[in-house]
Amino acid sequence: MTAKILLGKTAIGFLLLAAASLAGEAKTKVTSQPFGKMPDGTSVEIYTLTDGPFEAQITTYGGIVVSLKAPDRTGKPADVVLGFDDLNGYVANFNGPSNAYFGAIIGRYANRIANASFTLDGQKYSLPKNNGDNTLHSGTHGFNNVVWKAKAVPNGVELSYLAKDGETGFPGNLATTVRYTLVKGDLRIEYSAETDKDTVLNLTNHSYFNLAGGGDILKNEVTIDASRFTPVNANLIPTGELKSVEGTPFDFRKSTAVGARINADNEQLQLGHGYDHNWVLDNGGKLAEVAEVYEPSSGRILKVFTDQPGIQFYTGNFLNGTVKGKGGKPDEYRSALCLETQHFPDSPNQPSFPTTELKPGERYHTVTVYSFSYR
Ligand code: BGC
Repeated sequence: MTAKILLGKTAIGFLLLAAASLAGEAKTKVTSQPFGKMPDGTSVEIYTLTDGPFEAQITTYGGIVVSLKAPDRTGKPADVVLGFDDLNGYVANFNGPSNAYFGAIIGRYANRIANASFTLDGQKYSLPKNNGDNTLHSGTHGFNNVVWKAKAVPNGVELSYLAKDGETGFPGNLATTVRYTLVKGDLRIEYSAETDKDTVLNLTNHSYFNLAGGGDILKNEVTIDASRFTPVNANLIPTGELKSVEGTPFDFRKSTAVGARINADNEQLQLGHGYDHNWVLDNGGKLAEVAEVYEPSSGRILKVFTDQPGIQFYTGNFLNGTVKGKGGKPDEYRSALCLETQHFPDSPNQPSFPTTELKPGERYHTVTVYSFSYR
């Protein structure tokens, strides 16, 4: 009799569990707390998403991924992204000359736009210049530098921001949401946007990964599922060519250490001061695994999934130790790598590249997953 009752209870338990997983019930703990105030007094929050040994912290300032903890092969977690200990660190650096955009949402247009301008529907739009004559990551006051509204959602947090028509030079009121969820080591970032005027748009996340939790990234073994990349000129603007990676240091179709060819005698590597290029992904526009990083000493693995046509692989060539990051430690040359999923740089000026235009009535929607594991 007792056994029967117990069995009954177990069966009910299983049924409840099955129902919960069918309904995709949240199991990640989501909490929020104050992260400080902006110079104008606006309050900033930080959300903590915890699922077992994985933890992501995201602030409403710039949607920055402030910390991301993942276990190594012994189960020991480490923070695998660069950044600062507090809000002041981020604010001071975003307005300073050595802005690295650590962990932030980049918008409206990630990456470079040549000559800080583009023409859309016959009208010329001028943008702020912050990278020689070009615009990089939308200038000095982009999505990385505003306070987003936030609400907790199952397994994560959703941020929203309304960019005004003409803000930093771009047309259209653009209602944007970025939803972060963390489930079993998968940090999923889902971007959505709608406009009330024809505009251009290219959103990404600018996390700097160091899977060992310190040191340089030269021994990281990288795979990128791309048979072509977009070569650049001296200003890191694409020439328009989609060049085969075959026989070049840009061929990462087989896992290769970052440092194996980074100093090779190659004009593109010299122009980028290392890897700082956009790869043309072979994902056919569908959400698929496009890149992997394996860090041999810790065993940590980062897999990147996206539906975007490109990925900017940047090896921290402009980090030079002058900026002091978490714990006051300088962010040294090549101490992290970025895998920024996005459209190709300068697309608004390059008619042969996939379009970045968004029209009223259309919905911009794209997904990237940074998935952590170990072996
Ligand atoms: C760019 C680099 C730049 C870095 C920080 C990356 O997306 O490709 O050239 O230095 O962002 O702004």
